[in-house]
Amino acid sequence: MFNNDTLKGRTALITGGGTGLGLEIATAYARLGASVMLVGRNEERVQAAAETLNRDGVKAAAAKCDVRNYDEVKAAVEGTVKQFGSLDILINNAAGNFVCPTSELSPNGFRTVIDIDLNGTFYGCHAAYPHLKASKHGGSIISIITMLGVTGWPGAAHAASAKGGILSLSRTLAVEWGGDGIRVNTISPGPIGDTEGVQRMYIDAGKGDLEAKKTALGRFGAKVDIANAAVYLASDLAGYVTGENLIVDGGRWLKYVAA
Ligand code: HXC
Repeated sequence: MFNNDTLKGRTALITGGGTGLGLEIATAYARLGASVMLVGRNEERVQAAAETLNRDGVKAAAAKCDVRNYDEVKAAVEGTVKQFGSLDILINNAAGNFVCPTSELSPNGFRTVIDIDLNGTFYGCHAAYPHLKASKHGGSIISIITMLGVTGWPGAAHAASAKGGILSLSRTLAVEWGGDGIRVNTISPGPIGDTEGVQRMYIDAGKGDLEAKKTALGRFGAKVDIANAAVYLASDLAGYVTGENLIVDGGRWLKYVAA
């Protein structure tokens, strides 16, 4: 367990913060002392999530933002700094995905996922840079990817391409911005059972048991597993960790390779 002041005095902006992994990370951060800004396409959803957090006595706010729109991302970043006084942590979590054989995937379908996942991550990093550089704690960027962006992801070429791109972007920025005191890392979740994505793409498709068996541990992870990794990477405990891809997947990618 982390100390209650692990992230005290820091401000985090979480894209796709209204539900799923984003909200889980935001909740963990807020409980450990951070102020959190939740942004997402659905304004009602992020506002409701922030209100729920505030009722628990933590500092949370929300703003509408489609990460495909640089101006909206920039406005969300500036609004965060205006409201909380700094931006110390950026979580690039917003993602879009659907299963579709590549031969049937339209160019617009491919572009849409690249726009959300890869371009949205670049926009976040770019807009946040001056504020992360000014952070008295040292800035931290954490982007949520998957090892399927490294091993390949049959049926999800758009997301595989985007996630592989985010990994390379993150390693590039880790070097470019290391001198500015900004650490840049990624987290690769495996199948997280209590998320909409796994429910829709695996469980509803009748592949739940098969996908669980593909992990070394033989089971799905939980959202809190990813939130714990995100706390570690954002905290001083990971002060010398940058350019890392923290794999939290129950040994799925390794089992693919070893089997
Ligand atoms: C084929 C599809 C499709 C599908 C959309 N398209 N869904 N093609 N099969 N199931 C095509 C459309 O036909 C269109 O192309 C293009 O994609 C854009 O679709 P829109 O619906 O206009 O886009 P938009 O409304 O912007 O929605 C974006 C979206 C949507 C990505 C398509 O699914 C979305 O908003 N998702 C957000 C939530 C989400 O996906 N969460 C998953 C994250 S979880 P044409 O050519 O017709 O114009 C995750 C991890 C998964 O990423 C973990 C493993 C399971």
